[in-house]
Amino acid sequence: MRVVVIGASGTIGAAVVDALTTQADVLAVSRSTAPLKVDIAAPESIRELFAKLGSFDALVCAAGQAIFAPLESLSDDDFRFSITNKLLGQVNLVRFGIASIRDKGSFTLTSGVLASEPTPGSPVISLVNAGLEGFVRAAALEAPRGIRINVVSPPWVRETLVAMGQDGTDGMPASNVAQAYLHSVQGGDNGRVIAARLFGRT
Ligand SMILES: NC(=O)c1ccc[n+]([C@@H]2O[C@H](COP(=O)([O-])OP(=O)(O)OC[C@H]3O[C@@H](n4cnc5c(N)ncnc54)[C@H](OP(=O)(O)O)[C@@H]3O)[C@@H](O)[C@H]2O)c1
Repeated sequence: MRVVVIGASGTIGAAVVDALTTQADVLAVSRSTAPLKVDIAAPESIRELFAKLGSFDALVCAAGQAIFAPLESLSDDDFRFSITNKLLGQVNLVRFGIASIRDKGSFTLTSGVLASEPTPGSPVISLVNAGLEGFVRAAALEAPRGIRINVVSPPWVRETLVAMGQDGTDGMPASNVAQAYLHSVQGGDNGRVIAARLFGRT
């Protein structure tokens, strides 16, 4: 099985690569640090990546940025950046990748817990994450050739909290979060928001 992992150098992406590596031929893609590069915020870059890759069985995206800031301070550019990057970037992976994915293949995108459990400062991230979840539910209904489309919703990841100088004990280890992606790639789910919390200790 050929699996494309976008965001492979990141906290979650690297754990997904580790989890998949004994069972699949993993093609690791990142913005700047992997041998295969893409900028998901740039549609042309996504098209160029798919032209290089050829056909594959699954695509996991654990990449995408959105701005964390209070509503009053958010600029038009902050909204534009977040929507272009994490939301449309991942939507375009499905739109442009569907021609290259094999029959019964799967796309697994990433939203986040702030879609359903917002905090002050999360209006744009909550918007983007909820948008991704709506997109996946609808797009899965139309996917041809047995192709499945899911989105994983991670909680706060332990390694991320520690890197931010916070107490990591409330976070979920990235290796546990990765199990949710594995479930999406290997199982039969379609059109589902997969809560990573179900796959281990938070
Ligand atoms: N970590 C958490 O606690 C958490 C919780 C909920 C949701 N999430 C979501 O999970 C996703 C991954 O989070 P993470 O913490 O693993 O991120 P991370 O450690 O910052 O890693 C991000 C990865 O994505 C790549 N990337 C960034 N911008 C990109 C772009 N425009 N095009 C292509 N690749 C790009 C990076 O590549 P380079 O290294 O080459 O720049 C890196 O491989 C994000 O969407 C985040 O919102 C994370």
